Amino acid sequence: MRLPAEPALASSAEELAALHGRCFATGWSAREFGALLNLPGCIGLACREDGRYVALALFRQALDEAELLTLGTDPAYRRSGLADTLLTSGECRLFNQGVARVFLEVSDQNPAAAALYERAGYGEVARRKAYYRDGNDARVLEKWLRKDGQTGP
Ligand SMILES: CC(C)(COP(=O)(O)OP(=O)(O)OC[C@H]1O[C@@H](n2cnc3c(N)ncnc32)[C@H](O)[C@@H]1OP(=O)(O)O)[C@@H](O)C(=O)NCCC(=O)NCCS
Repeated sequence: MRLPAEPALASSAEELAALHGRCFATGWSAREFGALLNLPGCIGLACREDGRYVALALFRQALDEAELLTLGTDPAYRRSGLADTLLTSGECRLFNQGVARVFLEVSDQNPAAAALYERAGYGEVARRKAYYRDGNDARVLEKWLRKDGQTGP
């Protein structure tokens, strides 16, 4: 059974940072999560099981565009559709808030995330050379949520 997406709030910054540290070699701190989640336009979503955070996503909206800032699933919960749930739920919310285009950056050495995004309809629009600390390039991907003039879901 898929876990539902629910709001990730700044008051849970410690738990979100702990989860982020399980997902990434260099996770973000609780302070960083608290600051991000308090920024205007920032949307945090997460999945929990038995009260424990197991997947998270942060988006930031600016007018009719949004960026996926981070997305991660606890290694023990991968391939059960949680990232897909968070991505879809975030896009739906952004769409309803007038967003036309979502973009994100993903390492060119991250085939799992690339497969997720490509299946979800994202396409490459640019590359950033040696963007990451490990020297890997970033691929910039985008997805259009609405066509010109479209106003409803
Ligand atoms: C990338 C990541 C977020 C995927 O999370 P997840 O919850 O396991 O993903 P889902 O179960 O929702 O996968 C949805 C689809 O994405 C693709 N996918 C996900 N992981 C994959 C993998 N390891 N290999 C190939 N395809 C994969 C598949 O198409 C999958 O559907 P399927 O399981 O029916 O085949 C997770 O591996 C992760 O946290 N990685 C470390 C952090 C990271 O790299 N985040 C992205 C930064 S840009």
